Amino acid sequence: MMKENIIFMNKICKSFPLEIGGVQQVLFDVTFNVLSGEFIAIMGPSGSGKSTCMNIIGALDTPTSGVYELYGKNITNMTNDELAKIRNEYIGFVFQNFNLLSKRNVLDNVMLPLMYRGISTEDRIARAREMLRRVGLENFETYLPTQLSGGMKQRVAIARALAGNPKLILADEPTGALDSKMGNEILKFFKQLNKDMGITIIMITHEFEIAKYAHRIVHIYDGRINYDGPVPQKESILMKNVR
Ligand SMILES: Nc1ncnc2c1ncn2[C@@H]1O[C@H](COP(=O)(O)OP(=O)(O)OP(=O)(O)O)[C@@H](O)[C@H]1O
Ligand SMILES: [Mg+2]
Repeated sequence: MMKENIIFMNKICKSFPLEIGGVQQVLFDVTFNVLSGEFIAIMGPSGSGKSTCMNIIGALDTPTSGVYELYGKNITNMTNDELAKIRNEYIGFVFQNFNLLSKRNVLDNVMLPLMYRGISTEDRIARAREMLRRVGLENFETYLPTQLSGGMKQRVAIARALAGNPKLILADEPTGALDSKMGNEILKFFKQLNKDMGITIIMITHEFEIAKYAHRIVHIYDGRINYDGPVPQKESILMKNVR
């Protein structure tokens, strides 16, 4: 399959207004590209700007300056409705705290992204069931999220992300709330989705041991990229350009 450039970020800056006046700049000239089929870890210490960067990648927020193209579409000046449409069409989101609807059962949660797609209820149920089978939770349809372990909740969230048939999965600290055994299961699952289905994966983490599951690490420090390349032998190499 031809690899296409699905993400093009050129000199992205992001500032937030401060309550005391003025602004805080969080991202400085962030530039990178992503090819379809890549599995990337965005790594960096707490407060370095990872989630801010992920929110822009995921069209949840827009940059203050710079150019951002997602699947060939310039999202920089899009309206909220246009951004929502792009998200729904291309991206599956996975979060640290699962973001499941606590009063809805597992099947309803997985059906959610299919709501606005103009498909029949029957087809939505069938698709959600198929996704639950894929994550090994076919026998838990009627459970509420509170009745599941953390690892199971994250698998429901992954089934939900997959239900919309995304080309790209964005995961912000997907194993942050899990013990290492469950975390490893989730990471292996991502690896399999990437390899077998060709889904592009961008995962945020602050741990090198987790970033190692990816093929490429983009390391952010103080809002700037200081390493972008294959997983290095030693974590210290990620810091070699920090002044
Ligand atoms: N909506 C916002 N308004 C104001 N400041 C913000 C906003 N979002 C993030 N920031 C600031 O931007 C900086 C980077 O935050 P960000 O959440 O991107 O870091 P992070 O690398 O994801 O950290 P963590 O590992 O703790 O999740 C922080 O100083 C934070 O206070
Ligand atoms: Mg964060």
